[in-house]
Amino acid sequence: MTMTLESKGQNSAVLDIALSDGNHIPQVGLGILRVSDEETTPVVLNALEAGYRHIDGAAGYGNEAGMGRALAEAGLTRGDARGCMWVTTKLRDSEQGHDAALRAFDRQIGLLQLDYVDMYMIHWPTPFDWRSGETWTAFRELKEQGRVRTLGVCNFLPEHLERLHRETGEWPAVDQIELHPTWQQRDTVAFCREHGIAVEAYSPMARGADLQAGHGLISRIAGEHGVSEAQVILRWHIENGTIIIPKSVHADRQRENLDLFGFALTQSEHAAIDGLDGPVRAGHDPQTFSYA
Ligand SMILES: NC(=O)c1ccc[n+]([C@@H]2O[C@H](COP(=O)([O-])OP(=O)(O)OC[C@H]3O[C@@H](n4cnc5c(N)ncnc54)[C@H](OP(=O)(O)O)[C@@H]3O)[C@@H](O)[C@H]2O)c1
Repeated sequence: MTMTLESKGQNSAVLDIALSDGNHIPQVGLGILRVSDEETTPVVLNALEAGYRHIDGAAGYGNEAGMGRALAEAGLTRGDARGCMWVTTKLRDSEQGHDAALRAFDRQIGLLQLDYVDMYMIHWPTPFDWRSGETWTAFRELKEQGRVRTLGVCNFLPEHLERLHRETGEWPAVDQIELHPTWQQRDTVAFCREHGIAVEAYSPMARGADLQAGHGLISRIAGEHGVSEAQVILRWHIENGTIIIPKSVHADRQRENLDLFGFALTQSEHAAIDGLDGPVRAGHDPQTFSYA
């Protein structure tokens, strides 16, 4: 299946977010965590058909080959069509460091069947085994060689962003963090905004748990607009200017998660969702976690 630009989502209503390095990232992408390598190929092909132009992967997800097969089958690995796609991947924590990162990247780009990736990210800060400054020198080289367009990090708290900046003189263009109505990380978001770092929300629906948040609040808002609970939460992120990468293996949900531009939350609905912030994360603590 070779995709035309139109069937690939060129007419999709999804807007781009301008990054500090001059690149533009589609505000909605598809997450593919916990999708097997084999399943990833049809899942990504469905998403491309639905209009996604942005896929969020990682070495640690074990499915870069599956993503590469989908991109190749859709004719999106080379030529003009490649320029319409945004492909993110991430470095394993165990492969941080200058030389290890360069070796890892060679393997990853081969699996993805690409000449360059749009964004390469440090997956976790691992402050107990900090190598991000050294890793960044490799990232910078990859960017200078044109093999990566945008450099990002995940799970960095302000102190990690400051440490990276102290060591390298640079801020990443994007910080991908756990962010959803019941875990809003306002300090990190404010720090990113202050330093021109775009915020990308992972687990934007708390892996599904936030669909029931607020004792039915999300459902009531969904009813008012004739949309799903998922669309209400994702629309809240869109209105906050956040990049989102909801994951679904189902084609109908993928379409739903992209269809966020035909309605708007009222000010009071938006404020009510702001009010759901709480003390419990769905994922891991960046101070102590390593994805390995
Ligand atoms: N950088 C990091 O450390 C990090 C960590 C975690 C995640 N991520 C990235 O962020 C992406 C998204 O996060 P996530 O997968 O943790 O959580 P999520 O996107 O908040 O939620 C995914 C869950 O919600 C379900 N779902 C999706 N759309 C739905 C809809 N319209 N209605 C009802 N349920 C729906 C999915 O089920 P089905 O698939 O069965 O539809 C899945 O169980 C990941 O895939 C990954 O790319 C990054």
